[in-house]
Amino acid sequence: MKHLQQNSSNLEELSAKERVIYSRLDKERLPRHIAIIMDGNGRWANRRHLPRFVGHRRGVQTVRGVVETAARIGLSYLTLYAFSAENWKRRPKAEVEFLMQLLRQYLRQEVPRLNRNNVRLTYIGRIHELPDSVQERLKWAEESTAVNTGMVLTLALNYGARTEIVDALRSIIDAARNNGGFEHLDIDEDLVSSHLYGSMPDPDLVIRTSGELRVSNFLLWQIAYAEIYITDKLWPDFEGTDLLHAIADYQGRERRYGGLTSSSNEQRERSLGNTYDDGQAEIALLGVPK
Ligand code: FPP
Repeated sequence: MKHLQQNSSNLEELSAKERVIYSRLDKERLPRHIAIIMDGNGRWANRRHLPRFVGHRRGVQTVRGVVETAARIGLSYLTLYAFSAENWKRRPKAEVEFLMQLLRQYLRQEVPRLNRNNVRLTYIGRIHELPDSVQERLKWAEESTAVNTGMVLTLALNYGARTEIVDALRSIIDAARNNGGFEHLDIDEDLVSSHLYGSMPDPDLVIRTSGELRVSNFLLWQIAYAEIYITDKLWPDFEGTDLLHAIADYQGRERRYGGLTSSSNEQRERSLGNTYDDGQAEIALLGVPK
């Protein structure tokens, strides 16, 4: 069973524009967990004829703002895709080194602010493959925010979903070996979930910036039933108000988890009522849930 976080909000600190959008949201139906694929730092910089690292710096400012807005509305879990395992392998060494330096700087500067906002920091990904100096700073930041009881902010670092699933399989096999062998190993979805990185519930909403229509190896298992929201805005231009717009859009969706919508249920009952007598009922039942 995944850990569930109870959270409280701090609405008076929202900006005036944020407050207007927030006031229209259904407070009973806020997503519990939002995961964001932050994309477009490089394009943001290119469009301004600036080096890519300027885009990444602006991206960090966006992280700061979005984390605060999310914490203020009482979101329980926010997960940010900061560095994919692929970024790590496929970007020029100088850019990777810059991103690592930026991460260390972010952690040092952000801990007091995270504490003020009662945010607890955690990580997912192959953290042990990151440079020692980054690992030390990550450990320090995690420990420094460990007592906070508000939003859980998870940074996905050197993260890849397929790697995560491979690591989960290895972990299941190790656990079975250490617990008397494979005889009683009963593999089901809960077991697989419990061996994935982290302990947050599955995301309800995935946001991707910069208009790309991909999930890029992000939380593949966990987003099976998540709603997806894509915005053309590049990450450095994304604001707290955009986060709230994404939540408003999410609230307009009907989540079905493979079942039928309430309106199609009614329709189905009506059509069953109409067709039962002439032997059409079975045909009416054949609708495939989406
Ligand atoms: C995508 O931009 C973003 C990243 C590679 C990493 C995101 C990193 C940050 C926002 C800054 C660091 C984060 C933290 C938490 C310190 P891109 O370079 O892929 O953009 P492009 O697709 O336009 O080239």
